[in-house]
Amino acid sequence: MEVVFLSSEVVPFAKTGGLADVGRALPDALAEAGLKVNVFMPLYGTVETKKSGIKKIKTLKLSLGAKKYVYEICGKKEKGVSFYFIKQKTFFDREGIYGSSLGDYPDNAGRFIFFQKAALHSLKSLKIKADVIHLNDWQTALVPKFISKKSCLPTVLTVHNLAYQGEYDAKLARYAGLKKSELLYGSRFNCLAYGISNASAVTTVSPAYAKEMKTKKFGCGLEDFLKKRGQYFKGILNGLDYSLWNPQSDPAIAASYSASSPEGKDKCKKALQKEMDLPQTDAMLVSFVGRLAMQKGMDILVPALQKLISGKIQFVMLGTGDAYYHRVLTALAKRFPKNFALRLDFDNDLAHRIYAGSDLFLMPSQYEPCGLGQMIAFSYGAVPVVNKTGGLMDTVSEYSPVKKTGTGFLLRDYSASALEQALRKAMSIYAAPGSFRELSVRCMRQRFSWKRSALKYIRLYQKLISESVVAARRIQGEK
Ligand code: GLC
Repeated sequence: MEVVFLSSEVVPFAKTGGLADVGRALPDALAEAGLKVNVFMPLYGTVETKKSGIKKIKTLKLSLGAKKYVYEICGKKEKGVSFYFIKQKTFFDREGIYGSSLGDYPDNAGRFIFFQKAALHSLKSLKIKADVIHLNDWQTALVPKFISKKSCLPTVLTVHNLAYQGEYDAKLARYAGLKKSELLYGSRFNCLAYGISNASAVTTVSPAYAKEMKTKKFGCGLEDFLKKRGQYFKGILNGLDYSLWNPQSDPAIAASYSASSPEGKDKCKKALQKEMDLPQTDAMLVSFVGRLAMQKGMDILVPALQKLISGKIQFVMLGTGDAYYHRVLTALAKRFPKNFALRLDFDNDLAHRIYAGSDLFLMPSQYEPCGLGQMIAFSYGAVPVVNKTGGLMDTVSEYSPVKKTGTGFLLRDYSASALEQALRKAMSIYAAPGSFRELSVRCMRQRFSWKRSALKYIRLYQKLISESVVAARRIQGEK
């Protein structure tokens, strides 16, 4: 089986969020399961082509609207996956992926329409015979429009975050060759809505989020489109790449450890306290790594932190985000230097050391399609404290000190007081000898393998392929 996989970001070439990790790990897992996998992404100006060994393959021409554009296909092969890059100066040779400090690029619709068309256009010259095309998010959601109906080529669209839909002025629809009647949002055209309605199947990144997406509260206006897809819409949980996130073999951390010999974790905590200029005491160390934004729960995290900060607790936060939270958190860190260390930065190695050195990991997201942080935290034995939503709900279960079951702490509702209460419960367990280490070790034993997720996608591909064969026969019969 041969898959063409389209993603606007792929690790290590370009990343703004979790999509990039999936854009890498899922193709790897599919290839390991024996599939032929071709990944396509735009070649942004920031991709380090020389360092990554990306080479030019071909120059081609493609029209978009009334204009003809020259573009190059570049590529490289890694671990059995072929990566292809669409290089086009006007659209992609820029510093940003989606925008600059001034905001989103105004021509994003055109940029990604070009990307989708070029990826499909280049398949023939690359001699790729796809059995299925796997799309990710709005940037690739118009592909069902661009493949001929006759080919009956099945498409799977994975939604990583329903809030980002690619909704544009109807004028732009002409690039996509969409008619007025196909504009799904009155006078606006909505890329994600189009893909949700027209891909052969739609998936999202956890079963719980799939359910939430069909409600008014989480549906972002697309709930009815999703409900209509019936059994062709489902959630498949993401996995974690344990070759990157494993305290037993992590070169970035102070000491290695594992569930069967967890002692090294104490060293990692001491080293982290030292690095962050926090007193090297045995206070419970709580961390947050991620975007400092409302979606990630900042509006409840900040007040809960303010309440607890002077106690026997230490906080470490790493990330960047909204200017407002930068200000508030910087002021707090200045006031409580012994309890709160803040790094307004994007630092992958430091993130590793924070996971390894923390007792508790905070992820009180308002909504979370899947979430990667809690899975990483598990792997490093940092016990997750999460809101009961999406992938967080599918991966973390409430700890019971009596039954000695569960893997973390869930908020009773989305509020600062619920977060404070969950942290107080964690603190009391932390204070009781023995139980916390046992809980932390149970976390380390959790496994969310990409292999399992990949097999679910393969089953879905197989089903769609066999249905498309039937459809193709029908079309031929009609002739
Ligand atoms: C988005 C979601 C996140 C998910 C990731 C990968 O970033 O917000 O929850 O883990 O996509 O699917």
